[in-house]
Amino acid sequence: MDSFLIKGGVPLRGTVEISGSKNAALPILAATLLTDEPCVIRRVPDLSDTRFMVKILESLGATAKFENGTVTVHAKKIKGYADYDLVRKMRGSICIAGPLLGRLKKARISLPGGCIIGARPINLHLKGFQALGCKIKIEGGYIDATAKKITGNSMFLGGRAGPTVLGTANIMMAAALGDGITVIESAACEPEVVDVANFLNAMGAKISGVGSPTITIEGVKKLHGAEHEVIPDRIEAATFLIAAGATNGEITVKGARAEHLRAVIDKLGEAGVSVERNGADLIARRKGKLKPVDITTLPYSGFPTDVQAQMMALLVLAKGISIITERIFESRFMHVSELARLGADIEIEGPSAIVKGGKPLSGAPVMASDLRASAALVIAGMAAKGTTQVNRIYHLDRGYEKMDEKLKKLGARIQRVEEK
Ligand code: EPU
Repeated sequence: MDSFLIKGGVPLRGTVEISGSKNAALPILAATLLTDEPCVIRRVPDLSDTRFMVKILESLGATAKFENGTVTVHAKKIKGYADYDLVRKMRGSICIAGPLLGRLKKARISLPGGCIIGARPINLHLKGFQALGCKIKIEGGYIDATAKKITGNSMFLGGRAGPTVLGTANIMMAAALGDGITVIESAACEPEVVDVANFLNAMGAKISGVGSPTITIEGVKKLHGAEHEVIPDRIEAATFLIAAGATNGEITVKGARAEHLRAVIDKLGEAGVSVERNGADLIARRKGKLKPVDITTLPYSGFPTDVQAQMMALLVLAKGISIITERIFESRFMHVSELARLGADIEIEGPSAIVKGGKPLSGAPVMASDLRASAALVIAGMAAKGTTQVNRIYHLDRGYEKMDEKLKKLGARIQRVEEK
């Protein structure tokens, strides 16, 4: 298992280019299953998760080519059965269920199971499929969904923690090839959902209302091949903006969309990190001392759960008390004990982490537990004195394209140590 060796204390300076969004690319790649014509998806980040999704598409019978950020998929003839071993390894693979149901009216997929950040149920996906007329059986760890036809319907998809991102994408994809009109209430408003809908519409779907809590899908008989460019990764962009603040540097972030980052930019401003727009670029720099800030993660357009860990790494450096409340995933605090190994003083109280910031950080070996926690440890390592070894960096490779190379270009002393 590879690790990163980081020598802290260097302010990041320079320009970084943002890659395509992982969480948009995954359902968009899955959506290519909805047509028997070729599709071309550009700006796909080269990550273990996107490579994995391509493998799943191939295992279902599609031919696919992934070259220089472009994936060409031709799902001429596909089957509705996904191998257990493939699906179980990546939770995001649940988003093949919608396209399989739309195209074949059947899907047999292993239940994805929980993960380190929380239970991750799929009850809302199943509720939506049932509303569309699917019969669902759960047997031997598999979801077996079948339908004579997909019938448009109205449904409420809000759950205990609000809307569901992949659940909304799944229902849009199944209903796109349904009979009649589907209305999703309490739909997820995330930019990744909007991007999936834009691709589906380019394929000939009739979806409106995306980006709002009410999405309407008018079913069509057939979808055709299309080309699409994935939106920039707002979570990667946020991670670099935070890294600029944490290292007291100045970074120009190229290709990010400020309108997708409002909550993050607002909280960074409160914390003493200014983010200015310069044409299409964002420039992040520290304005004086860091200040403590309270944050609650919420569905879009609130503060994203996927940026909570990285923001904690920044707030650990701000003198005073910050309260970070996690409202989306109940156990997404695995980074707390690892940040403590670097000298951070954080207490967990139910869904909140109380950060008593301002204590000096010093390098130590730490263990990455999930994707965003890994990014937080890299940020903290860059802000700490001495050397930090972040182990199990494969978590980070799932969602950040060439992070070590991008950080090196910004001046970070970071080295990938490959385990032989
Ligand atoms: N939920 C339910 N029932 C469901 C589905 C979700 O109760 O059927 C709950 C979840 O337990 C959670 C909340 O609803 O409390 C939101 O979960 P959501 O379904 O929106 O998450 P997801 O679609 O499985 C995507 C991203 C995550 C990101 C979340 C929230 C992908 C591949 N994953 O997951 O990304 O944290 O939305 O924004 O799109 C990451 O990139 O690190 C990551 C974990």
